[in-house]
Amino acid sequence: VSTITRPAQDPPRPAAPAAANTLPLSALGSRLRAPEISALMTAALENQRLLSLAAGFTDSSTLPVADVQRAVDELASRPGLPEHLQYGSSRGRPGLRELIAGRSIALDGGASRDIDAARTLVGNGSQQLLYLAMQVLCDPGDIVLVERPSYFVFLDMLKGFGVRAVPLPCTDDGVFDSDDLRAVLRGLAGNGDRARLKAVYLMSYFDNPSGRSRSEAEKNDLAAALREAGMLVPIIEDNVYRELWFDEPWPARSIFALRDWDAFPKLMLGTLTKPYASGLKIGYSHGSDARWLDRMAWLKGHHDFGSANFNQAVLEHIVARGGLDEHLAQLRPAYAAKMRVLDAALEDEGLRDLGWRWSRPGGGLYLWLEAPPGIDTSVNGHFWNQCMTDGVLYVPGGLCIAGGGGERFVRLSYGVLDPDALREAGRRFVNAARHVVGV
Ligand SMILES: Cc1ncc(COP(=O)(O)O)c(C=O)c1O
Repeated sequence: VSTITRPAQDPPRPAAPAAANTLPLSALGSRLRAPEISALMTAALENQRLLSLAAGFTDSSTLPVADVQRAVDELASRPGLPEHLQYGSSRGRPGLRELIAGRSIALDGGASRDIDAARTLVGNGSQQLLYLAMQVLCDPGDIVLVERPSYFVFLDMLKGFGVRAVPLPCTDDGVFDSDDLRAVLRGLAGNGDRARLKAVYLMSYFDNPSGRSRSEAEKNDLAAALREAGMLVPIIEDNVYRELWFDEPWPARSIFALRDWDAFPKLMLGTLTKPYASGLKIGYSHGSDARWLDRMAWLKGHHDFGSANFNQAVLEHIVARGGLDEHLAQLRPAYAAKMRVLDAALEDEGLRDLGWRWSRPGGGLYLWLEAPPGIDTSVNGHFWNQCMTDGVLYVPGGLCIAGGGGERFVRLSYGVLDPDALREAGRRFVNAARHVVGV
């Protein structure tokens, strides 16, 4: 069994002086708690036997070492001044933005509008852009509509901002429930919350955590419901897993290509971390609304006046010579195979016979499992503790569902572990599931 990937550990800190307890903080500083993800990482660090199906990290064995080395060598041997080792621009390298915008348009079969280099902002991963997007839109007490389930790091971020996440109602198979959706929007309007609603956050391609994708009809119906309710609010389509399909891309076009979304301020998020190298930590956003994107760029200017120019130069070089597509062609079957290994391990060990349900995703990094009634997957519950004893870590579904009701769900990632470790982790997981029901 391979060892789990461990983030670098901080050096031990000296004991805080007593006065630290009285440090005056801003309203935001006082509200902040350690992100939920830190607790999961700490659990992995503290128990070295633990196999982690929790982290949505990429597979270290597939990382493009030789490619990156070649790109660095080529950059280093370029004549002239090494501009790539100098600061870059706040919005990102123009050449990289041009290439990324072209790729996003191509993914929509050329149909997307409002996407070009000038309306593209590069960030330290799409995570930073998501944070900036929220920070320029939301005040404490505001509301954001999210899917059910949604990206738990985003939900946690909203808590930090003091922003309320309201789930978009879905049917049992995860499709938006058109009638309930309209009822929720009417409810917001009726409560006087219309002005508090600041954004809608969607993951339409192989989402985190459920692996589900959305059809154009579904997206258009959401646009219609928002329009009917008079809520032409900013919409974020987070497409970070869009290119990580297994057998075929998801056919729906992005909201930038759908006429029904024309009147809405739109932001698309993408990344080069998941499909290429997460250590380079470069993500991007396309924005249809200059007021929104400019403010994100200005705020980013305050943070760091630009993401690492060198990392961007490496990626620009690689994307320009087709290295990203070559890498993706190897990555897709590798993740598809790992998904099948974990799925088969759970199935063969008898998890379905214990009443657990899940479906196989067509891409992305996650399996989303529903436990039978009576099992609570929350941190420090019976099932969690049994998993800790058996040496397997997962993300509790409760973290992924705004407003509660996720306690019977689990997110498992097949991203990091190798196939043997995935089989063993699957075996341990089913063992724990069996143990807690006494069979
Ligand atoms: C849905 C989603 N959005 C955004 C991110 C942020 O990714 P990155 O900052 O590596 O681009 C992640 C990472 O797991 C994610 O799952």
